[in-house]
Amino acid sequence: MARLLVTGGAGFIGSNFVHYWLQEHVDDRLVVLDALTYAGNPANLEFAAGNPHYRFVRGDIGDCELVERLLREESIDTVVHFAAESHVDRSITGPAAFIQTNVLGTHSLLEAARKVWLGERTVTRHRFHHVSTDEVYGSLGPEDPPFSESTPYAPNSPYSASKAGSDHLVRAYHHTYGLSTTTSNCSNNYGPLQFPEKLVPLCIVNLLRGKPLPVYGDGLNVRDWLHVRDHCRSIDLVLAGGRVGEVYNVGGRSECQNIELVRELCAIADDLFGTDSALQARFPQCIAANGGLCASSIGYVTDRAGHDRRYAIDCRKIEAELGYRPDISITSGLRATFKWYVDNEPWWRAILDGTYRDLAVRG
Ligand SMILES: NC(=O)c1ccc[n+]([C@@H]2O[C@H](COP(=O)([O-])OP(=O)(O)OC[C@H]3O[C@@H](n4cnc5c(N)ncnc54)[C@H](O)[C@@H]3O)[C@@H](O)[C@H]2O)c1
Repeated sequence: MARLLVTGGAGFIGSNFVHYWLQEHVDDRLVVLDALTYAGNPANLEFAAGNPHYRFVRGDIGDCELVERLLREESIDTVVHFAAESHVDRSITGPAAFIQTNVLGTHSLLEAARKVWLGERTVTRHRFHHVSTDEVYGSLGPEDPPFSESTPYAPNSPYSASKAGSDHLVRAYHHTYGLSTTTSNCSNNYGPLQFPEKLVPLCIVNLLRGKPLPVYGDGLNVRDWLHVRDHCRSIDLVLAGGRVGEVYNVGGRSECQNIELVRELCAIADDLFGTDSALQARFPQCIAANGGLCASSIGYVTDRAGHDRRYAIDCRKIEAELGYRPDISITSGLRATFKWYVDNEPWWRAILDGTYRDLAVRG
């Protein structure tokens, strides 16, 4: 039986991971530590309330005393570290919060783990798993080979630079102090519970409300899209069989231009609304509810500063060593995600009108 501390568990990937873990590892203990920043939404974890194997703690990963106390009192043997500032656009307008949480916060977490696990020897075996991004590797040209684990780091945004800093710290804590670490660098995730500032949920909620779909620059930037459930499964594989001190790249084998992705979401909306009068009545502002084609709402906007052109992941290492394969194709994953947002309108409406913060304020 494992005893996990999941940081950032109220965010998009973290909450999907909590969901996944409580389903797949029913006997494990799982403690979430989350500061509930704007990206942390207590509603994401409502399904877990009442589960005796689960506990939520509101707090900052930079609060070393709190983390040390949790590691001791819960006899934590596994940290899965998701907590981060994660939105590139926000890192351009306000990089300080990214350095604070992603670099200094990760350092503080590593120090707490080192003190309790290595200094006090509270558990016999431990693991610190760090969740990172393919963005640390920089940008690829159209013909460049995909990022492998040995691609040199070349981060281009304050976000990716701060994640690169945290990756280096995790590596150093393994090599210098012997902390049992693993790191996964994954590509763009999509799926349920993603905050609607990111491309996929932003487009879906805008489609449902008949709002324009903003596409940066010429829309030809390429990302490798990974369904969040496949990502969670890959972390499970790394925790179970990954070699300590190693890095694993995780992708979806679904390279796609942003404009293709947005057109695919438009096609899904056109298709779902075409024959469904109940859906047309629920979302009358959607262009497809009125017989129009959703692609007409695509609009190009000024490109993001320093926008990386292409990311692509070579995930042969995790495939060969741990048997990882993405199960969910981009076509079926996007369709399921679209339906999730249709079925969970109150969840995203509460974010759009800000009332989702009420839960965080009430604690
Ligand atoms: N979303 C992606 O496509 C993607 C891709 C690759 C890697 N990642 C990485 O995965 C991780 C999770 O990403 P996400 O998209 O779920 O992010 P998110 O922004 O949705 O969630 C981040 C969570 O961390 C919490 N948090 C922020 N600062 C904190 C602090 N100081 N202490 C405690 N909690 C804090 C927030 O409240 C929130 O719940 C991040 O480390 C990110 O870099 C994300």
